[in-house]
Amino acid sequence: MSNSGEAELLHTFKGIPFTTRSSPELLKSLDTFDAREDDVLLVSYPKSGTHWLAGVITKLYDTQVTITSPIEFGDISQLEELNKLSSKRIIPTHLDYNMLPPNFKKKKCKMLYISRNPKDTAVSMFHYYRDNPNLPTVDTWTAFFDLFLKGNVVCGSWFDHFLSWEEHENENNILFLFYEDMKKDLPKVVKEISLFLGLNVSDNDIQDICKKSSFSEMKNDTEKENSDPTHTVCALTSNRKLIFRKGAVGDWKNYFTPKQNIRFQEIFNEKMKLSKM
Ligand code: A3P
Repeated sequence: MSNSGEAELLHTFKGIPFTTRSSPELLKSLDTFDAREDDVLLVSYPKSGTHWLAGVITKLYDTQVTITSPIEFGDISQLEELNKLSSKRIIPTHLDYNMLPPNFKKKKCKMLYISRNPKDTAVSMFHYYRDNPNLPTVDTWTAFFDLFLKGNVVCGSWFDHFLSWEEHENENNILFLFYEDMKKDLPKVVKEISLFLGLNVSDNDIQDICKKSSFSEMKNDTEKENSDPTHTVCALTSNRKLIFRKGAVGDWKNYFTPKQNIRFQEIFNEKMKLSKM
């Protein structure tokens, strides 16, 4: 990764790398952000299926809801924009639990945390780094693999992110979801989400939502620009076309060498020894 590229595109706040699309002033002001009791947070480490989940959630509501841009995206005016919104807000974020505006916690806002096998997340993020002009240049998978394991990537360590949220997994206002479960049985997960959000959705509607949320439908929608191609729920790009790459479970096997897999597993076992994952 070129140092000059990194210096221009990333900055560090409270020890976590952010892109310069998250201004330091905005990040500093998050602590005072005014949450509303009916806000819903859509939380993820990048490349975990955030857009997929956002697509599902917006289709579940039959009332007016706005899926905003991520709370940490932009400059200080972002918070004013969010304050001005009159409709119910679904707010995406890649923030670590400790950086989340405290008002969301005080008001017990509903939060959905989506996670994915970190090996697949790493591969997905590698491609994102390569295709996304807002992220530093990375020359090879080997180089990226090292950066990912060290947490030297945008949003920091996958392990720290996951653990910061997992600690709160049993709180009633937090729902933990897994990308792999969505791949295996989407209707079951969609039902679970609808119950968590207190929405009454018929089985027929659930089937319909699942059809419209398939990888191919969502990719086509973006290509046909049925959905706004500049609206993303990721603070790292405003180009939706970069999101829908492969949509598969287990793509890591095409990238990890046996040695990398052993090293990843060792670090995983060490860092996650207190985790239930
Ligand atoms: P891949 O790069 O492995 O294809 P995020 O939205 O958090 O940035 O995550 C992006 C990842 O979710 C990408 O993974 C993308 O292809 C995948 N994805 C997006 N929509 C999906 C869908 N409807 N079904 C399955 N995977 C999807």
